Amino acid sequence: MGKFLDSVPFSGIIRIRDMMYSVTDPFRLDQGDVSFDAPDTVKRAMHRAIDDNHSHYLQTTGVPRLLALLAQKMKDVNGIPVESTDELMVTTGGIHALFIACQALLEPGDEVIIPDPTWPPCAGNITLSHAVPIPCPLHEHLGWRYDLTELEATITPRTRAIYINSPHNPTGGVLSRDDIGRIADLVRDRGLWLISDEAYEDVVFDEAEHVSPASLPGMYERTIPIYTFSKTYAMTGLRLAYVAVRDAQLRERMKKALFYTASNVASVVQYGGIGALEGSQTCIREFRDELQARRDLFYAGISEHAGGVLSGARPKGAFYAFLRIEPGWRSQDVPAGGSLSWAMAEYLISEGRIGCVPGVDFGAHGEGYIRFCFARERRELNGALESMHRLFASRPLPAR
Ligand SMILES: Cc1ncc(COP(=O)(O)O)c(C=O)c1O
Repeated sequence: MGKFLDSVPFSGIIRIRDMMYSVTDPFRLDQGDVSFDAPDTVKRAMHRAIDDNHSHYLQTTGVPRLLALLAQKMKDVNGIPVESTDELMVTTGGIHALFIACQALLEPGDEVIIPDPTWPPCAGNITLSHAVPIPCPLHEHLGWRYDLTELEATITPRTRAIYINSPHNPTGGVLSRDDIGRIADLVRDRGLWLISDEAYEDVVFDEAEHVSPASLPGMYERTIPIYTFSKTYAMTGLRLAYVAVRDAQLRERMKKALFYTASNVASVVQYGGIGALEGSQTCIREFRDELQARRDLFYAGISEHAGGVLSGARPKGAFYAFLRIEPGWRSQDVPAGGSLSWAMAEYLISEGRIGCVPGVDFGAHGEGYIRFCFARERRELNGALESMHRLFASRPLPAR
């Protein structure tokens, strides 16, 4: 197993992070983190937990009060027919929930269909379980959704599960109710599992709707829905997420993976989660409205300052701009077989101090695109846009 880890790739985002440390006064649009602070309800609850000496071991799956609040939330908000808090467990972030789910569900050689592009830990966690991630493209012309016929054709006798992530990182695509219904049909008809990563469930814009597949008839039995406090309550560094599983055997396996990797999630953080759920929920709408305003600001700026070079439709969810790079941009400088998206990322970082992630880091289908996070302060977004203006005005596209 030790040597096997040498073959599991690190996320390319780490390389970008290292590059950003060498930049003075950077615009950190590379990181998928919101600039908001966690609500006071969370902070007060954590202070209280410290004062009340909640610094001891806890139940492996979570504090009963937190589990009760989460079960209620999953029923009321997501429409999932949770019957008992025994079905739930809290984890050290969504990435940990995905890790334990993969460890518990997958056998060596099992195939899991993942979106391409995808959030890198998705493929990494599947590989870590000795299973095989099988990419299926999301298409820009479909609003970064699947061609469902293509998705169906990707299923083989070795397919164990489909991983979906809606709203989607890095593209911002949101699957429609009809998409989810058809994916649910495939999962039921072919006897598969669905891993539904709903990290951005609360970040949906305009008329878009978030649909939890486990709310559809007969789907909770074969779905592992994953949620996190990271994005909804701006608690990225606190590391709190949760997952529900109806299947008792799978749940026992996940509980073992949870116990052997964390024993229990940090006590004070769990009390912070209780504070988040017991307190006012207005921050969710406030964060979403502000993110939508930042999205609009960023896309207006892109079309004004980088219109000839970067383009794309405004995303319906999550907080990333996944923009197409005009293929003629510096084509003479990108060596044959080289990556246009890496060339663009290196240029924006070294010449413009603008953090970004090359699309190819999210999968082969992401080549030719670049990702920016627009959940940063407006000041920082404007700084990045001004910097882009200077770069692209000084180095226009070659004439065709
Ligand atoms: C698609 C996706 N899923 C899950 C997560 C997990 O977040 P966390 O581990 O902070 O809960 C992230 C974080 O960026 C994400 O982008």
